[in-house]
Amino acid sequence: MSLNKRQLKKIYLVGILIGVGTLVLYNRWSSILPGAPGIISSSGPGTVILLTQRRSGSSILGELFNQYVDVSYFYEPLFPIDETCNPSLRQNAVEIVQRIINCDLNQLPMLYEKAFNVTDRNDKYSRCKIHNVCFAGNTQSKYSAYLTRDAKICNVVNNFQYCPEPIDLERLSAHCRGSVLIATKMIYLCKLEWISSFLSPPSASLKVLHLVRDPRATINSRIPARNSDSGSNTARLGGIRFYAKQICEKLSVNTAFANRAVGTVIPHDKYMRIRHEDFSMDPIKTAEKIYEFVSIPFDVDIKRWLVEATSFDKSLNLKVGDQGTKRNSRDIVSAWRMKLTFEEVVVIQDICKDALTMLGYEVYNTNEDMLDLNKLHFTSKTII
Ligand SMILES: *[C@@H]1O[C@H](CO)[C@@H](O)[C@H](O)[C@H]1NC(C)=O
Repeated sequence: MSLNKRQLKKIYLVGILIGVGTLVLYNRWSSILPGAPGIISSSGPGTVILLTQRRSGSSILGELFNQYVDVSYFYEPLFPIDETCNPSLRQNAVEIVQRIINCDLNQLPMLYEKAFNVTDRNDKYSRCKIHNVCFAGNTQSKYSAYLTRDAKICNVVNNFQYCPEPIDLERLSAHCRGSVLIATKMIYLCKLEWISSFLSPPSASLKVLHLVRDPRATINSRIPARNSDSGSNTARLGGIRFYAKQICEKLSVNTAFANRAVGTVIPHDKYMRIRHEDFSMDPIKTAEKIYEFVSIPFDVDIKRWLVEATSFDKSLNLKVGDQGTKRNSRDIVSAWRMKLTFEEVVVIQDICKDALTMLGYEVYNTNEDMLDLNKLHFTSKTII
C-alpha cells in the first residue's frame, strides 16, 4: 500500500502534534512530580509542615517542635505570600517549601522579594528580606529558637532574639542539613494541594500536620466583643460573614482534598489531622501522637515543658483524671457557644456547613441545643 502526499502530510502533522503534546505534558509533570531529578533530595532530614489558620492554637503546637533540640523550625516562611491565594504566587510558594525541605536556602531572599512585589506586604514586621529568614531576629526568642540554641547564629538579650542582618544562608543551610527534623508552621499556604507532590512517593520526605479548629470558635476569637450599640452589631455580623467565608473556604478545600488524597496518592503516614479541641482536652496524649507521627521521641523535658506551658494557658488543661479540671477544659472549648448569638452561629453554619460536617462538629438547629453545654459540640469519632 502506498500513501499519497496528502496522507503523508497528515501523518507527519499528527506526529508533530503528539510529540509536542508529550513534551508539554512531560514538562508539566516533571515540574510537579516529586520523583523528577533534583527536585527533592532524599538524604536530608524529614520535614513537617504545621498547616493551619490564624487563631487555631498553632502557636503551642509549633512550640512542640521549636522546643526540641536540633529541630530547625521555620516560623511562617510564607509570610510574604500573604493569605490572598493569588494564583500567580503558587510557583513561588511551592519553591519556598521545596527549598526548605532541601535545606537549600540561598534563593529565599529573591523569592521573598518576588512575593513582596506582588502582595505589597511590608517587611517591617516579619523581616523576611532583611534577615533572609522570616521572623528570625529582633523578635521574641520563641520564634525559631534553633537559630540561637543550635546554630548559634543569633543571641538572646533580655528575652529577645537578636540576629545579625542578614543571616548567612550558606551556614544556615549546612546547619539545616544536620538537623534531626525540619519543622515549619504555615498559615499562609493557600492550598494543601499545591504541595501534594512532596507528599507522594517515591521521594517524599514531607509530612503535613493539619491543625483545624471549629470555625465558630476561631471567628469568636477574632472578632471584637458585642456592643450595646446595635449599629456596631450589624458591622459585627458583616465581619463574621467575611471571616466565615475566608476561613471555611480554605478549611473545606484542604479537608476535602486530604479526604480524597490520603490513602490514594498520599500515603497515610504523610498526613495527620489534629483538631484543636482534641488537643485542648488532652494535650499530652495528642502531643505523644504528633511525636510518633514525625518519628522523634517525646522526651521527659518536652513533656515537662508542655505541662507547664499548657497549665499557664488557661484554655488548656492537663490534670485529665481530675473531674473539676476536666469540666474546665470542656467549658473552655465550648466558650464560643455562650459568646456568639444563635443568629450569628446560623450565619457561620450556612457558610461553613461542609467544613463543620467533614470535621465532626455539630451543626445547631436550635438555641437550646447550642446552649446545652453538657453535650460537646464535636464527636469523638476518628476524623481521618
Ligand atoms: C521587585 O520590584 C523591584 C521594583 O520594581 C524590581 O527592581 C525587582 O527586580 C523586583 N524583584 C524581583 C525579584 O522580581
